[in-house]
Amino acid sequence: MTSTDQDRIAELTDRLEQELTDRTPRSQEVYQRAKLVMPGGVPSSFQEREPHPIYVSGGSGSKVIDVDGNEYIDFHNGFGVMVVGHAHPAVAAAIAKTAGQGTHFAAPNEASVRVAEELARRFRLPKVRFCNSGTEATMDAVHLARGFTGKDCIVKIEGTYHGHHDAVMVSVKPPPDKLGPPDAPASNPFSAGVPRAETNLTLVVPFNDPDALERLLSARADIAGVIVEPIMLNIGVVMPKPGYLEALREITARHGVVLIFDEVKTGITIAPGGAVEYFGVIPDIVCLAKAIGGGVPTGAVLGTEEIMATISEGKVKQLGTFNGNPLSMAAAEATLFEVMTPDAYKRLGEAAERIEGGCREVIDRYGLPAYVVGAGAKGCVMFSDTTITDYRSYAVNFREDLNNLGWLFHMTGGVFMTPGGDEQWTLSVAHSDANLDHYVGVFEKFAKSITA
Ligand SMILES: Cc1ncc(COP(=O)(O)O)c(C=O)c1O
Repeated sequence: MTSTDQDRIAELTDRLEQELTDRTPRSQEVYQRAKLVMPGGVPSSFQEREPHPIYVSGGSGSKVIDVDGNEYIDFHNGFGVMVVGHAHPAVAAAIAKTAGQGTHFAAPNEASVRVAEELARRFRLPKVRFCNSGTEATMDAVHLARGFTGKDCIVKIEGTYHGHHDAVMVSVKPPPDKLGPPDAPASNPFSAGVPRAETNLTLVVPFNDPDALERLLSARADIAGVIVEPIMLNIGVVMPKPGYLEALREITARHGVVLIFDEVKTGITIAPGGAVEYFGVIPDIVCLAKAIGGGVPTGAVLGTEEIMATISEGKVKQLGTFNGNPLSMAAAEATLFEVMTPDAYKRLGEAAERIEGGCREVIDRYGLPAYVVGAGAKGCVMFSDTTITDYRSYAVNFREDLNNLGWLFHMTGGVFMTPGGDEQWTLSVAHSDANLDHYVGVFEKFAKSITA
């Protein structure tokens, strides 16, 4: 690529922005109405987009349709939830059957026992409690770590997202002037409304730097737990360096600090037993949500006998009106037992090879400043000419302009993706080879257009 590419990128970006706007007049109309009643015109700030979001009317298998009738192959898959594909017959049938038998009792049900047994088996931790989202799962994990150790502070990784409760809304995407020194990153609240006193209880270390954690745990005796996303999945895909997760396991065990894996995204998507299985490292607590519910809100927190005993002893309160709700449990049971079978993981592995290999080939052929990285159903093209290993290397090297233009090519080329550099593709069992090749084909058009 040459220096004149900047003008070309800007010109193409303007043209495709306009094309997307022209194709989505009904979304524009819905937005005008929506923003009168919902801030930003959306139910969650993560769905905001300028000049307007794309409102979706439905989906089936690997496809979604927007309110203008545009059809896309879905690689967004509901922020990584729909690894089963849309309206999977087994999941839809389980939900329909349960809906006809009563949807909520706030009394325990048998399906929750079967789902708990399967999650315990897959994630190699003996005890399970349910909740309703990733936020609740990480909130419960923080309570458990604090309740078990009697200490207040939590360590998180700079640049990771673990949901929207106070203890983890810290240094999620800190601005460059607020980072603090590399060996002592500052704790920055991610949102107004998070009290400074709460933020101060959350300490921050870089990803892929076990020595930083060792130094922190040696210096302080007030740390209850360390929460880590085993693969950083909110700045594309950032893999742990070989030995990093093993080092975290060893260091936390030696210091008597609880190790929490936030597997809300890696969960059942990168392997049947998530990062625990993929990397062979067993933490003290695993947080799950997203894909385990097959598209119905659910979450779970799994832990060791000793830690989870704090719940049965009544010390740590783990609560929720909708925990283990029949609809969520029916969808989870169908997802785990009927859809995400060994054959499904075999197919996801083949699909990953196909899309990753295709994108890699395009990058090489056109000499793009990018590389491909993936694990199971998760993967992406990282627009950077050096490997990103943590939030600071992302902040400096990630080419947001190319990422955004690639997104516009996909959206106008019939590929549904999340905007921004935070996300990655999520493959589903419904993606055909033709779907995967379509993704690569659009990516090639993008590559050609900026290098021609
Ligand atoms: C790693 C991780 N943890 C927790 C959460 C929060 O999950 P939820 O949006 O279900 O509250 C997310 C959401 O994107 C996530 O990616």
